[in-house]
Amino acid sequence: MKEKIEQMCNQAKEKIAEVKKSNELQELKIKYLGKKGEITSILRGMSELKPEERPAIGSLVNKVRDKLEELIKEKENEFKQKEIQEKLEKEKIDITLPSTKIKRGSKHPINRIIEEIEDLFVSMGYDVVAGPELETDEFCFERLNLPKGHPARDMQDSFYITNEYLLRTQTSAVQARTMLAKKGIEPIRMLCTGKTYRREDDATHSHQFNQVEGLVIDKKENNVSLADLKGTLEVFVRKLIGDNLDLRFRPSYFPFTEPSYEVDVTCFKCGGKGCALCKKTGWIEVLGAGIVHPNVLKINGYNPEEYGGFAFGTGIDRLAMFKYAIPDMRYLYANDVRFLNQFDRRDID
Ligand code: PHE
Repeated sequence: MKEKIEQMCNQAKEKIAEVKKSNELQELKIKYLGKKGEITSILRGMSELKPEERPAIGSLVNKVRDKLEELIKEKENEFKQKEIQEKLEKEKIDITLPSTKIKRGSKHPINRIIEEIEDLFVSMGYDVVAGPELETDEFCFERLNLPKGHPARDMQDSFYITNEYLLRTQTSAVQARTMLAKKGIEPIRMLCTGKTYRREDDATHSHQFNQVEGLVIDKKENNVSLADLKGTLEVFVRKLIGDNLDLRFRPSYFPFTEPSYEVDVTCFKCGGKGCALCKKTGWIEVLGAGIVHPNVLKINGYNPEEYGGFAFGTGIDRLAMFKYAIPDMRYLYANDVRFLNQFDRRDID
């Protein structure tokens, strides 16, 4: 019996030492240590032994089992290590390889202009502020001298949410908000850019567009005048679009300014000679502007005898069309990368 066990043990050791694959090792494990394996069958045969032989054989079998378990475990670890090693070799990363190019976005032309305008006016001492896009009738119209039923409201046929709330049709709403917020801490030098909404949609109008608004209010004795407004707008247009542009002030009407002007600039396409774009006039209308109406001062808590100033506003999308010669405003909102790529000053691929 003892020899039989030792023989089995040696044979098992040899086979374990020779085994090359993990599944073969599992087979050996079952063959020797499994429920129906050789060790179990020897233990079962113990009953046939004489009682005095049993302890010695029993302890020999246990020793053999422990030894085989140990050897199998070692071999299993060896296979595991090998597997990890092979995986590491296979998945090696070459960090010296050139990287794949990542496509980057670029700043939207509207945002480029907004930043340029804001920087310019900050350099002239203005505060840059923002107002809500969902605005009240009160701030969008009433506080700007446009009471309910005023015919000038029709020009801004709007997206009403309720009777009181609408998507703002003009950033002029921020004029009233600023006047209230700055009461007692004037002078006001305010610049605001933001989205505005009207019910229109064609090559030169979009139902959502961007405006820039400026407002200056100061004590009467500081003489903020039309000359200041003209000088400011000249700097604005020349810095933003072109040095050689001239401005023309045409009388116009806005309920919140008096006198009011529409400001034209030299046609950037023909240089003022007259072409299809400027309808042979040599001028293109760009801005609305004027001296703040006494009613607006009064409604927002400023005495028109004591205070005065000017306001101006324009569409940023139109400025972008002039600056970059964009033929259709809707390109600005189509998110076509072929269009947007043209404004990326970085690398070309
Ligand atoms: N809010 C006017 C518009 O949308 C523009 C404007 C602003 C005119 C400020 C005068 C003063 O047409």
